[in-house]
Amino acid sequence: MALPYAEVIGDPIAHSKSPKIHGFWLKALGIEADYRATHVTPDALPAYFAARKADPDWRGCNITVPHKIAALDHVEDREDVRTTIGATNTAFRDVDGALVGTNTDAAGFAAPLKAFNLAGRPVTVIGAGGAGRAVLYALAGIGVGPVTLFNRNVDKGAALLSSFGLEGQALPIGDAVPPSALVVNATSLGMTGQPVLDLDLSALPGDAVVYDIVYAPLETALLAAARARGLATIDGLEMLIGQAAVAFERFFGTTPPRERDAELRAILLR
Ligand code: ATR
Repeated sequence: MALPYAEVIGDPIAHSKSPKIHGFWLKALGIEADYRATHVTPDALPAYFAARKADPDWRGCNITVPHKIAALDHVEDREDVRTTIGATNTAFRDVDGALVGTNTDAAGFAAPLKAFNLAGRPVTVIGAGGAGRAVLYALAGIGVGPVTLFNRNVDKGAALLSSFGLEGQALPIGDAVPPSALVVNATSLGMTGQPVLDLDLSALPGDAVVYDIVYAPLETALLAAARARGLATIDGLEMLIGQAAVAFERFFGTTPPRERDAELRAILLR
């Protein structure tokens, strides 16, 4: 039998950091398995899943753009991701062998927030796209207080708040950030090549946390502004590594060595 393997699929796929993350953990744990990046175009998606389902060595895949919604048609939705987050980023074999779609973005996002007490406290989120959905889903699970959701398209923001049963209001980006225990950028604003997200953080209390899901650059203007104010920050590599960790456990049945995150982060920043 060949080596067991998992992979990340997308179109394009060359930029993905997932092989470096999973590869680092497999090596660190001495697991004889492979993790690769596989280019799959939308036309090829049905044939891809048909072939992999028949491959006993295949443990599953991470799913990235543009397949996160289309892949739901090829997996069992046992965790109800279609009607909640609305997208899958990981497919794995369940104990009975069935191929199940899950979404590890919400758990990956929420993991570093366990160190903070956010229940019942007001939060501000920027973004109502795919990443915004995972973030709001996670925040609803934490039981945060009212959510101010900034989005270019305000109607989309309002619809998302109500779909997650979150109290709060949707506003256009540019309005003042209200006092919040947590501010999350869930857009690509601030990423290299994208416009900067310019927020006035002056209303935030001294114990507020500012979380940016962007990891290129690692220190976004938003995080720099938060640090300048002495606020706690969480960068985009935390969520990236966090979502991968939940997927790794599904693929390989063991938790990755998170005590080696500093080493992994250095590799990812090279
Ligand atoms: P992702 O899966 O990364 O969240 P997406 O679903 O395309 O990607 O969502 C992109 C998010 O970034 C949305 O909130 C989008 O705002 P709209 O819903 O109004 O489109 C936001 N976004 C992207 N580019 C933007 C820009 N130049 N200015 C403001 N918001 C932007």
